[in-house]
Amino acid sequence: MRILSGIKPSGEIHFGNYLGMLKPMVDSQSRGELFCFIANLHSLTTVFDGQQMAAWTRQMAVDILALGIDPDKSVFWMQSDVPEVAEFTWYLSNYTPMGLLERCHAYKDKVANGVSANHGLFAYPVLMASDILGYGVHRVPVGKDQKQHVEVARDIAGAFNHRYGDILVMPEPEIGEDVATVQGLDGQKMSKSYGNTLGIFADPAEVKKKIMAIATDSTPLEEPKDPESNPVFAWYKQVAAPDAIAEMDRKLRAGGYGWGHAKKELVQAYLDHFAPYRARRAEIAADVDGLEKIMAMGAEKARAIHMPILESVRRCVGVKYL
Ligand code: TRP
Repeated sequence: MRILSGIKPSGEIHFGNYLGMLKPMVDSQSRGELFCFIANLHSLTTVFDGQQMAAWTRQMAVDILALGIDPDKSVFWMQSDVPEVAEFTWYLSNYTPMGLLERCHAYKDKVANGVSANHGLFAYPVLMASDILGYGVHRVPVGKDQKQHVEVARDIAGAFNHRYGDILVMPEPEIGEDVATVQGLDGQKMSKSYGNTLGIFADPAEVKKKIMAIATDSTPLEEPKDPESNPVFAWYKQVAAPDAIAEMDRKLRAGGYGWGHAKKELVQAYLDHFAPYRARRAEIAADVDGLEKIMAMGAEKARAIHMPILESVRRCVGVKYL
């Protein structure tokens, strides 16, 4: 079974990205053949600073490797390193009715929020269909917000196959329901657009400062506390050992133990949890040649899968004319 995950370079990986997307992706390496790429071409629809784009992209490659994507076992590549994906997008565009794209929520929401849409943003789902259909993948784990885009890919595959036969593999979206929404520092959903994120590789001083500033209720120290009344315990459950989690739960409910103490324990557990990844990340970042080799190998592996599919589509649509 081929599983495909695409991630846009976004600057800083926060705890919500990590639990909702990156950790499941790393874990998925044990249940199928993982195709994992950095969707830098998709980011171009909204990022217009080339230097920042390049820096974020490089950082994302380092971060993903540090988190445990194994470039030997999985196919890990940079979307733009297989530029044939753009050619494939063009072929698919001609099997994509305008109405299909006009109905996409992601696009409509952006426009409703005053983003002045360019063609790239409108055509975003076709490029995404190209990522999916270009590698013959079976499963596409995505958040709820991207489900419709996978359905667009299915519609396009259906239209193409209806015309030319069984050429493109029909992908299935996989919606990870078991991952509850990760709360941000303010208790709302963690999201960059709410400014309530905590980076997984943030400076320890910043981690401490942000966690210590989480608003908690003013229940007196001696009284029992509701562990679910703010993000502290919810986060602790994700980074601490099972017996430590049970212990904090007990102490909060018993009273005589304050949120200040709980926060200190959370800071330590959070930093300890990410310490090995942080160390690995520094090593990878320091080895520029190594990173170049990994990316070149990934592009080669991805291209080897993509080319036969692209070739058959070229033949179908008739651009192979001799
Ligand atoms: N649109 C996805 C996101 O915003 C990223 C993405 C691009 C993707 N191409 C993909 C995800 C293909 C899954 C499959 O997160």
